[in-house]
Amino acid sequence: MPVIVAIDGPGGSGKSTVARAVAQRLGYTYIDTGAMYRSVAHWAMELGMDLEDMHRMEQLARETHIEFVEGRVLRNGVDVSTEIRQPVVSDAASKIAAYPGVRRAMREEQRRIGAAGPAVMEGRDIGTVVFPEARVKVFLDASAEIRAQRRAAELGAPVEQVAKDLAGRDTRDRTRAEAPLMQAPDAEYVDTSGLSATDVEEAVLKIVRKRTSN
Ligand code: DC
Repeated sequence: MPVIVAIDGPGGSGKSTVARAVAQRLGYTYIDTGAMYRSVAHWAMELGMDLEDMHRMEQLARETHIEFVEGRVLRNGVDVSTEIRQPVVSDAASKIAAYPGVRRAMREEQRRIGAAGPAVMEGRDIGTVVFPEARVKVFLDASAEIRAQRRAAELGAPVEQVAKDLAGRDTRDRTRAEAPLMQAPDAEYVDTSGLSATDVEEAVLKIVRKRTSN
């Protein structure tokens, strides 16, 4: 199996920033699995579908083909990079991500990508469910306040509202029955609260070197 660097953690913990940087440093493919769930949710909303309809959501997930091209997210050839970052899509993604059928479709796609070559894959269940055999596993975390501040700065939105949205999504992602957000027993825990992006990148690269050196 090619080397997989699995990075899991809650929203605002710094996963995307570090995963992208580490992938670039190592020459690995960068896979943002949250963007995959977001793309399905965004498509469902665009089509006016009922998000509560588990079976339709699974069907749509199976028809969804995601490509990551030069930092853009293409859903069935359409660039949805900007639209999928809207808070309403974050919430919808977290909702449909609780459906076992949707997760199954995404998991199959993620495993297919991972089998094709070395990758840095970030999400909620990469080290626990998608690639439990991954050589490198990192669990990124940060205090709720810091995570909300980071996300608010990204979105240019009031921190109180962002904090509330993040907390709701966190609870849903951590308490769902299927593949909830949790640290794999063999993952390295990194608290990014007081760290710069460069510090986190160095910390993760150190873990990669340690785990791949023998
Ligand atoms: O990482 P993100 O915030 O872009 O992810 C959006 C939502 O997608 C998140 O709230 C839960 C879901 N998700 C998931 O369930 N499993 C993953 N591996 C990645 C994301």
